[in-house]
Amino acid sequence: MNTNVPELIWHNGKVRPWAEATVHVTTETAMRAVNVFEGLRAYRQPDGRLAIVRLTAHLERLETSAALMHIPHPGLAAELHDGITQLLAALDPQGDVYVRPSVYVDTGRYTAERTEMTTGTIVTCFPAPVRPMEPMRCIVSSRRRIADDALPTAAKTGAAYSGFRLARLEALEKGADEAILLNQHGNVAETGGAAVFAVRHGRITTPPLTDGILASITRATVLALAERLGIPAAEQPLTPGDLHGADEVFVTGTLDEVRIVGQVNGHSPRHGDHPIGSALREEYLAMCAGTRPALDASFLAVIA
Ligand SMILES: Cc1ncc(COP(=O)(O)O)c(C=O)c1O
Repeated sequence: MNTNVPELIWHNGKVRPWAEATVHVTTETAMRAVNVFEGLRAYRQPDGRLAIVRLTAHLERLETSAALMHIPHPGLAAELHDGITQLLAALDPQGDVYVRPSVYVDTGRYTAERTEMTTGTIVTCFPAPVRPMEPMRCIVSSRRRIADDALPTAAKTGAAYSGFRLARLEALEKGADEAILLNQHGNVAETGGAAVFAVRHGRITTPPLTDGILASITRATVLALAERLGIPAAEQPLTPGDLHGADEVFVTGTLDEVRIVGQVNGHSPRHGDHPIGSALREEYLAMCAGTRPALDASFLAVIA
């Protein structure tokens, strides 16, 4: 049993002891991963309050994911907003946290006689993981990112993460930290938790959303930050060779924040001091911590 869990969880409208938030082993979420979720990060601000990065965008993406996966749950965003607020108030965490709201299908198989579907909602909150300082070693996975015509790539659904899990396990087996997956055309897609960026001749490039990736919220923030810092940026397809020959490579995601990549398939980026990735990382982290002006008024939502 995992004893390293928080004391409390929010489940179906209430903050409860962790162990009480259960579903039956035969539910659709347990058997077929019929659920969608979000990963949010909240940062302690200089005034001591806790603020969530891009809360509205994450809740909107959750609603999109639920719609794409045919998980009807009226009022989902508002309900989970309340859940997040209640759980953070109850836990009163001291440091930064990772918050995960989710909606799952409990009962209702997709049979010819459509049965009534029942859904449930949860919010969990964990201390934010320790921020790794060293550059990450990546491989390009032998596994392709599941394509949009198989499973909607814009949906953050548990079902997709069986594929990401296998890619990550392959990376670990090969002595790397993370796997970069290609799409069905052999272009760079993403990791199981972040968008991929390459730098060449002072210009940053990241695959377009049409290359079958999740619409990473951090990716959009970093593109806007690049503009603020006067760094030229483009959304265009990348090949594995573009990563091998890049001046710099970095990834962006809620958990990874802006994380420098030190190796792709054993190729080290030309610029070993990662000047552009490091500048974006520093700016991003400062903005999250509230020590540098936010990009716009919706960047940080003060919660507790
Ligand atoms: C598959 C995948 N790609 C990219 C990301 C990064 O998205 P975001 O920046 O919105 O956290 C995530 C994390 O949510 C993810 O799971």
